Amino acid sequence: MKTKWFFVAGFLFLTLTACGAQSVTAEAQPIPIPTLTPPPPTTIPLAETPATESSAPAVEVSFARDVAPIFADSCVECHGGARTRAGLDLTSYVGLMSGSQEGAVIFPGNPQESVLFQQVVDGSMPKRGAKLSPEKIKAIGDWIAAGAPNN
Ligand code: HEC
Repeated sequence: MKTKWFFVAGFLFLTLTACGAQSVTAEAQPIPIPTLTPPPPTTIPLAETPATESSAPAVEVSFARDVAPIFADSCVECHGGARTRAGLDLTSYVGLMSGSQEGAVIFPGNPQESVLFQQVVDGSMPKRGAKLSPEKIKAIGDWIAAGAPNN
């Protein structure tokens, strides 16, 4: 019978030590308490934008201000004044719209069909000297596209 008590005592001892070990383990690893961190700000203050800023009107191309000076600089030495090559007078709006001996060189609203625009784009005009800059060609094209007004 002593053997039985030995086993009982041993069982109890093991159980207690096991529980003790468990409790020690539980103390050594405390349950982490979730810390509540404040959420990041969701609204980023927008910079003040003036309401009228993005609706600037397209710059209007003027014949007198933008186009005629190009002709005066690069064309009238041959198309106006002393010479009027191809019967084309580029010294005035009326002369320009009268066209050449071949007919109209400007088709209002249609740069691609306008002989004058074609020839400055492909570089055949000015016939001599420096070609027109892309900015000048664009000004002529924009002006024709806008209807070639006498403005
Ligand atoms: C050095 C002289 C010279 C200059 C500068 C010159 N042209 Fe000409 N242009 C001519 C001659 C000459 C012709 C006749 C066709 C040919 O010989 O190519 C002509 C023809 C044209 C024609 C064709 C007319 C048609 O109905 O066939 C256009 C358009 C024209 N020129 C526009 C211009 C423009 C625009 C400029 C300036 C950007 C310019 N030209 C500068 C000499 C010149």
